[in-house]
Amino acid sequence: MKRSLSRASTVLATALSLATAFPSYEPPQRQPTQQVAIIGAGAAGSSAAYYLQEYAKQHELLGLSVNITLFEKTDRIGGRTLTINAYDDPSQPIELGASIFIEKNHILHQALQKFNLSKRIPDEDSDPKLGIWDGDEFVFTVNERDSFWWTALKVIYKYGIMAPRRTQKLMETTISNFLRLYEQPYFPFRSLTQRAYELGLVDVTGITGEQLLKANNIDDRYAHDIIQASTRVNYASNLVRIHGLDTMISMAPEGAMAVKGGNWQIFHKMAEASGAAIALNTSVVSIRFSSEMNHYSGNKKYLVRTKSTISKSDEGEEDYPVAFDNVIIANPYQFSKISAEEGVIQHAIDEIPYVQLHVTIFSSPYQYSPAFFGLTDSKDVPGGVLTTLAKSDGPTSGVNGAGKAGFFSVTTLRTTTNPMTQKREFIYKIFSPEKITPEFLGRLFGVEVPESFTANPDEADSVSPITWYHPHVFSSYPQALPRVTFQDPIIGPGLYYTSGMDSFISTMETNALMGKNVAALLIDEVLKASKNGCGGSKDLHKDTLLDHLTSDQGVSEKEMKDL
Ligand SMILES: Cc1cc2nc3c(=O)[nH]c(=O)nc-3n(C[C@H](O)[C@H](O)[C@H](O)COP(=O)(O)OP(=O)(O)OC[C@H]3O[C@@H](n4cnc5c(N)ncnc54)[C@H](O)[C@@H]3O)c2cc1C
Ligand SMILES: *[C@@H]1O[C@H](CO)[C@@H](O)[C@H](O)[C@H]1NC(C)=O
Ligand SMILES: *[C@@H]1O[C@H](CO)[C@@H](O)[C@H](O)[C@H]1NC(C)=O
Ligand SMILES: *[C@@H]1O[C@H](CO)[C@@H](O)[C@H](O)[C@H]1NC(C)=O
Repeated sequence: MKRSLSRASTVLATALSLATAFPSYEPPQRQPTQQVAIIGAGAAGSSAAYYLQEYAKQHELLGLSVNITLFEKTDRIGGRTLTINAYDDPSQPIELGASIFIEKNHILHQALQKFNLSKRIPDEDSDPKLGIWDGDEFVFTVNERDSFWWTALKVIYKYGIMAPRRTQKLMETTISNFLRLYEQPYFPFRSLTQRAYELGLVDVTGITGEQLLKANNIDDRYAHDIIQASTRVNYASNLVRIHGLDTMISMAPEGAMAVKGGNWQIFHKMAEASGAAIALNTSVVSIRFSSEMNHYSGNKKYLVRTKSTISKSDEGEEDYPVAFDNVIIANPYQFSKISAEEGVIQHAIDEIPYVQLHVTIFSSPYQYSPAFFGLTDSKDVPGGVLTTLAKSDGPTSGVNGAGKAGFFSVTTLRTTTNPMTQKREFIYKIFSPEKITPEFLGRLFGVEVPESFTANPDEADSVSPITWYHPHVFSSYPQALPRVTFQDPIIGPGLYYTSGMDSFISTMETNALMGKNVAALLIDEVLKASKNGCGGSKDLHKDTLLDHLTSDQGVSEKEMKDL
């Protein structure tokens, strides 16, 4: 051990002096630029692009460089992270998709700082009263303006002290196990299944939230009222239809934050910083082998065929003029409409059920009718309403398990001024398994809502109940049923897939982590290939070592032995 240590330091010293004495030192055989295609500019694709460029820069001395082309079928970056403007007024942005992240989300939090984006505390201006409604009655209410102690007392009074305490502990243990995935030796990972197993996380993904909470002696009523309200608002799922890991993720909103002006900006900045050529309005329709070979790995390169999503004609398909050494598929494949030539995808990508979630955002001068919730005094109606199942409901009653309540949540995002009328109004957001109807809104507000939702203000003498309306339906995230295997990120030589992460934990951060992971795997493969490959430069490997030795991660015992 001592001997190898001193050899390591000799190598390090030599390499370092080489690096410093000859700043313009170039390896004798430059690695040709790696051509990389990334399909999808959501959290995963943008993060993959960003970290590919970061890792390539770290190995610049070796002549390693990447040229990234980022294909995105829509006209924007962000994917399921997207922002709309209330009243189409750019000064009133609202998250339509992913809305919050937490400080422990290292990639997002670091990017926020690195790109000098401003943080926003979500729901700061929203109604402080939050209630959990079961379709018959409010089973629990809190006021965020109340002191922590008052709220704690209320919880303890109703559910006892052990349920919240055990939940907190279980959540912390689970999250800290998960966070090891960011570090060596767990990062990077070729198999998510293997890591889930090594980190003991299959113990929580393999069972339902209900089973996990029972096994940990967490009071049924607390699970039913509080935890299930969280899994419903976060993942549109009851405890019998969601695995234990996502259940715990739903209970971890502490220190929630968002980016002022829209979370999508993180991914926009990442894509920009990667130097990628960004092809918007461009859908990839197929992947096939090229006749060209990668000089080092001996693998066939890939050709992609693209289609403009704005061209009116059907003919718009064409072969992209670059042969790619690597392709990263960064979106749920089953929705991508990509066809792959036989043999390209060597590890079949399983289709998994996704939740169809309706997100409806609108403005109204009205507040909820107390009668809708079976109350008489409007003072008792909370602005934020989460839901759980009714006593008469079965564990999967109603459309997608929404139960008697019929929806997952209705929240008052904020009080605002309608720029057209200068009147005070409220912005609402509803998560539901089905399309919202005028009849439903009519009952919710105790007024008649026109079939067209928004009445023409010029015609109506009375106040329009809905003044601006934006419905959207997402294939939002997988129905996270218990499972112990996950789609692995390497699906062919030089071919990568990120969305296996979605059925493990579907968040902006975890998908960005998978993007970073495939970037690390890809760079590793390139360095390995240039060491072993046909005609590759041996010098590359020595310099890779330099990087390892000088990186803050230090040298692992195994690397020591290898020396
Ligand atoms: C309503 C809602 C609320 C959510 N709330 C939160 C939250 O509060 N916090 C959180 O962390 N997460 C939340 N999530 C989950 C989070 O949004 C996702 O997990 C994450 O954004 C997924 O990122 P992704 O890059 O893997 O996929 P996506 O964001 O889906 O990106 C895939 C991209 O690929 C593009 N694409 C697809 N096919 C092609 C093709 N053939 N060619 C070119 N481009 C293609 C798509 O247009 C898309 O831009 C929420 C999701 C929804 C829907
Ligand atoms: C990088 O990729 C683009 C295609 O997106 C291509 O036009 C360009 O020539 C490539 N640049 C290099 C240096 O390979
Ligand atoms: C993409 O299409 C939209 C219209 O759908 C258009 O406004 C936008 O300019 C296009 N962007 C690019 C880069 O082609
Ligand atoms: C960061 O943003 C703030 C405003 O949001 C600005 O005042 C400051 O100069 C910016 N700093 C850098 C380094 O860009």
